[in-house]
Amino acid sequence: MRYAPVTERLAELGSAKWAVHYRARELEREGREVILLTIGEPDVNAPEALLDVAQRAMRAGRTGYADGRGEADLLDALAERYSARLGRPMGHGHFIAFPGTQTALYAVLMAMAEDGCEVLVGDPMYATYEGVIRACGAAPVAVPLRPEHGFRMQAQDVARAITPATRVLFLNTPHNPTGAVLRRAEIAALLDLARAHDLWVISDEVYEDLVYGPEPFVSPFALDAERVVVTNSLSKSHAAAGFRTGWCAGPEAFCARLLPLAETMLFGNQPFIADMTAAALRAPDLVAEGLRRRLRRRLDLVHGRLDGHAGLRVHRAEAGMFALIDVSGAGRGDGTWFAESLVEATGVAVMPGASFGKVLTDWVRVALTVDDAVLETACARIADHAAGAG
Ligand SMILES: Cc1ncc(COP(=O)(O)O)c(C=O)c1O
Repeated sequence: MRYAPVTERLAELGSAKWAVHYRARELEREGREVILLTIGEPDVNAPEALLDVAQRAMRAGRTGYADGRGEADLLDALAERYSARLGRPMGHGHFIAFPGTQTALYAVLMAMAEDGCEVLVGDPMYATYEGVIRACGAAPVAVPLRPEHGFRMQAQDVARAITPATRVLFLNTPHNPTGAVLRRAEIAALLDLARAHDLWVISDEVYEDLVYGPEPFVSPFALDAERVVVTNSLSKSHAAAGFRTGWCAGPEAFCARLLPLAETMLFGNQPFIADMTAAALRAPDLVAEGLRRRLRRRLDLVHGRLDGHAGLRVHRAEAGMFALIDVSGAGRGDGTWFAESLVEATGVAVMPGASFGKVLTDWVRVALTVDDAVLETACARIADHAAGAG
């Protein structure tokens, strides 16, 4: 049988990056006590109030086909939220509902890029970005996100990477895995480049509501209404990843072009989930406020226990669910060595930074989504391991 090339382009991505996570699961099955700090999911369930909305809607018969763009009330709720946040009027035509950011990213890239195009994306990056870029046939081109700039993308690094084949600048603010929040002036400089080179800009804003540092979140879409397309969802802000509910927000002309593709993929989303999403958007802090507080506290905990200990350095994230630790100062090996040996020696599973890009070769990523007491235990084991004692 013959397969389409996309199956080969995507075949080698993925599983190798998660080797430490799978190893931890294996150790768990063998009866070892394991602390999983590899995956970041909100540490609470989706709020009862939203479950009630979804359940009531299901029982009220909201189980048929939905409108291909999204249910009218959901589009109203999105328009209300974005009009308020961006300070300009938005209507239904600026949005399309998707089952999560991931699907939105896939569809948005399909509408922007193709074989022979280049997509500029930060290194490090969220684990699935390479896949969504390669799926449409384009090539990812890494723009280094430098620790000395707080891992925030700088226009001069982007300028160096632009070629005649560049079609898209792929931003993620707040950023996974670094927790960096792009500043307004940095975004303005990036948008100047995008305009000068006629690039689309994608802004993945899935951590928008999880900013706990001093700098406010600024959406690139607030600064440019013509070429920026936002993707977002309830997965993080409302602890609702399993509902698979998200959207894209962008220029009306772009959304009009994308709509037939979205309809071809999805034939609409589930109306009862649309109702729950609309309710969530109108009460946005049901989960995020508490989550922000706990994440901030746990980042402080990891910082207090590990920064400066045995040569470790903990990066001060400004948002999101992760702490990054530079292990090079411990002098025992790079981040991959550290993560692989840590899980074997202590049962603590963290992600090697290299899973997210070259820039993080010497780093590991620690999820801040476990109880404080568990995180304390994990920190003690990480500290011992760095010191050669664990
Ligand atoms: C940066 C980033 N984008 C997108 C996603 C996927 O989000 P969703 O559940 O909305 O598909 C994640 C999930 O971890 C993420 O970290």
